[in-house]
Amino acid sequence: MPSEEVAAVGSVMGDAETHASARGSHRAAAKAAPRRLVVVSNRVGPIGRDKAAQGGLAVALRAALERAGGLWFGYSGSISERPSETPKLTIDRNITAAVVDLSRRDFDEYYIGYANRVLWPLFHYRPSLVGFSRRALAGYLRVNRSFARTLAPMLLPEDVVWVHDYHLIPLGEALRQLDCRQPIGFFLHTPFPAAELLRMLPNHRDLAAALCAYDLVGFQTAADLEGFRDYLLRQGGGEDLGGGRLRAFGRIVQAGVFPIGIDVAAVAEQAAAAEESRQMRRLTSSIRDRSLIIGVDRIDYSKGLPARFAAYSHLLEHYPQTRGRTVLMQIASPSRSDVPEYREIRRELEAAAGHINGRYAEFDWTPVRYLNKSFNHRILSGFYRAAGIGLVTPFRDGMNLVAKEYVAAQRPDDPGILVLSCFAGAVRELGEAIIVNPSDLEAMAEGIWQGLQMPLGERRERWTAMMATLRRNDINAWRERFLTVLEAAGAGR
Ligand code: F6P
Repeated sequence: MPSEEVAAVGSVMGDAETHASARGSHRAAAKAAPRRLVVVSNRVGPIGRDKAAQGGLAVALRAALERAGGLWFGYSGSISERPSETPKLTIDRNITAAVVDLSRRDFDEYYIGYANRVLWPLFHYRPSLVGFSRRALAGYLRVNRSFARTLAPMLLPEDVVWVHDYHLIPLGEALRQLDCRQPIGFFLHTPFPAAELLRMLPNHRDLAAALCAYDLVGFQTAADLEGFRDYLLRQGGGEDLGGGRLRAFGRIVQAGVFPIGIDVAAVAEQAAAAEESRQMRRLTSSIRDRSLIIGVDRIDYSKGLPARFAAYSHLLEHYPQTRGRTVLMQIASPSRSDVPEYREIRRELEAAAGHINGRYAEFDWTPVRYLNKSFNHRILSGFYRAAGIGLVTPFRDGMNLVAKEYVAAQRPDDPGILVLSCFAGAVRELGEAIIVNPSDLEAMAEGIWQGLQMPLGERRERWTAMMATLRRNDINAWRERFLTVLEAAGAGR
């Protein structure tokens, strides 16, 4: 564990937030709960457990808030003509979600234009896909300031504020400008690029300075932290003060590595319970005695889906024993379809799936099942359990929680095996997976073949080791480590 990862020292959150329906009752609730956790992210919820959440962040934050309780603030997912600055509240047990709509212009400039056409491709090492415009940047800053204005009056002095992901980098600075003095931390779910790549951004200095306005900045891996540290030291005239503290742009920030975890017990229980579900029975009877290979991703160019299909095609071509004996089920949930590159990749995948099926299918066997939709978490855990191979092969990924959930969902007596990209953050913890380079089709096909052949004893050994790691750093440990360090950093400010 990196030195910045302070061992969990028990909950720092106190009692859970009570059900509050308005600002006033938040205030009353806070008297009983001295440390309320306020989570801020672009995408919020849905907060009910059975609802399908889009992307790892929403699933993880819902799990992180489940035990601690608290307020979850962000974008509603809806566009309205004249969005109100008063958030809409929804309450589910100890979590209150407070969300605001965006105008079409804000959505286009902040979410599409800057977050997803500039920061996302750059942070995922795809500079050729970056489409920078000053207009989009202005929208990004405007929405961050507007979120800060809406959130600031909801904050109580004792709150701890935890901001998530690249959409909201300037939020901490904007809250400070409104005189919010609470400890404010930031966690980046995506990779952080190497300093030279970050320098491509016309506003790279402002972005880095905004990160330094937080008390604590957390990254998924040591490589991400190193990118940030290196940038500050070389470009920000920064200084390493030791113990994870960095001085740059006239500010002192604590930075550390906090690899995000999952709710291991909940995923394992859900997967075991799903064995009896109707969907699982339908899936297993349709697969019969074939080996199921599963992939679950948002449709995104960073996930390496066309290369994955090509690797499966290579497997069928060069390992003919797999024809008729394996099925690749790729669940690909539609994502960011307002961004042209996402529409393009969707077309590419449809063509690739059709091509493989056209070439290899038999009247009683279809090699690729390509499902363009989302499933709820409970059903997914069952699907993971039914699959002998979990295929997670992104070109770049902050963590990839599908990798972790696939492992947690396996049958202890007969676990499947994970085939994992060396460019997913999860590889730092799941070294017992079969590790492949997604640019190497042959290596990916070999990895799948190795997994299909792997004896039970070896699968069990690898699975036991990975489960021990996942349990040690589950979602609660992650939350508590981050918040413990944040509180100490905030107190030292
Ligand atoms: O995990 C990275 C992330 O971009 C999250 O911030 C986001 O909620 C998720 O992927 C899904 O993306 P989107 O909210 O754009 O659909």
